[in-house]
Amino acid sequence: MKAIIGVIGAGTMGAGIAQVAAQAGHKVVLTDTNPDQLLRAEEQIKSSIEKLVHKGKLTAQLGQDAIHNLRFSTQLSEHSEAGLVIEAIIENLTVKHQVFQQLEQVVSQDCILASNTSSLSIASIGACLQNATRFMGIHFFNPATLMPLVEVIPGVATSTEHTQHIEALISGWNKTVVVCKDTPGFIVNRVARPFYGEALRIYEEGLADFATIDWAMTHIGGFKMGPFTLMDYIGNDINYTVTETVFAAFYYDPRFKPSFTQKRHMEAGFLGRKSGRGFYDYKEGSMLATPHEDQALGQQIFERILVLLINEAADAVFMQIASPRAVDLAMTKGVNYPKGLLAWADELGASWVLERLESLFAEYGEDRYRPNPLLRRIAREQSKFIL
Ligand code: NAI
Repeated sequence: MKAIIGVIGAGTMGAGIAQVAAQAGHKVVLTDTNPDQLLRAEEQIKSSIEKLVHKGKLTAQLGQDAIHNLRFSTQLSEHSEAGLVIEAIIENLTVKHQVFQQLEQVVSQDCILASNTSSLSIASIGACLQNATRFMGIHFFNPATLMPLVEVIPGVATSTEHTQHIEALISGWNKTVVVCKDTPGFIVNRVARPFYGEALRIYEEGLADFATIDWAMTHIGGFKMGPFTLMDYIGNDINYTVTETVFAAFYYDPRFKPSFTQKRHMEAGFLGRKSGRGFYDYKEGSMLATPHEDQALGQQIFERILVLLINEAADAVFMQIASPRAVDLAMTKGVNYPKGLLAWADELGASWVLERLESLFAEYGEDRYRPNPLLRRIAREQSKFIL
């Protein structure tokens, strides 16, 4: 029999995770302290499943089974029979500690506990538990029902056996699982930083406007969305906060330095699509910004952002955060990059990437452009990241 899955927090992420587990055939208990939120989540999940059935992506029977698999409650004690409980409540360490301490009194000894945190360390959350060997990060991406990637993050105390068990379990939920170390931003939120940060820097230097940078990344680079369109989509408040958190957590490494431009947009309430205006204007009747389609400039912008992304991906491998394949999977399945960054580096040649980084480093003298030692080594040995 499949394990019962508990999900705590019926917000954006919790509702999505509960739906994914229910569709995978598990009995699911979704709890939240707010009964209105539970009602909203129930409606949202039902309507999402109905849409999937309507589109033919789920049979009517499987859709009905998934709905029957779900139970909603305001009581944490309802998780007593769970084999795995995933917490997806507000991003606050004190509140997460309170919930996990109560939860540990309710669940069985062999129930695995997990957090969907984006920015807190797994070690810091697990520190409140009597048995932290069964605790880890299980990081879904938004929307959890659509995004295939899940990062599984064992903390220093987590047992390998539990990690392997969860890796196998979540892989069975039609998800791509990558295991990574408990470091700030895990894989995706760390490696993706230059996509936003370098685009903002290029704009701040006056090299190009938002629309031209977006055009360069989509039309020349093949990315589905340009950085400014994407930041407006995510929300400048959310995206800026992630950058600031990663920057602080890396002891203020200049590679992750946030941008004043984005901060000012956030402060002004230019949050993106959700507020009607971000880097672009989304109000009805507003004009679409037109890019300056200069091929040479576009190529320069694309190459500058790409080599910084590759450098960050190389650093994640160099620091043993994850394997080269896991890093590439994470970026293609978690944020839809057109190619894995390391496979891209292999295609272009590590020396090609290194040359461009060295020339940026020589021009600016800033640490954000310092080439990663692994990239240097691979270029020197004329080798590849993915063998
Ligand atoms: P949300 O604000 O949409 O939902 C949080 C839910 O937790 C609310 O329904 C709230 O009523 C409930 N809650 C608060 N305190 C509670 C408690 N003590 N017991 C039970 N329920 C409680 O938040 P969201 O966006 O779903 O984020 C949840 C977690 O997932 C956070 O840790 C966040 O960092 C992480 N995350 C968020 C992503 C996103 O794009 N929103 C992506 C990946 C991870």
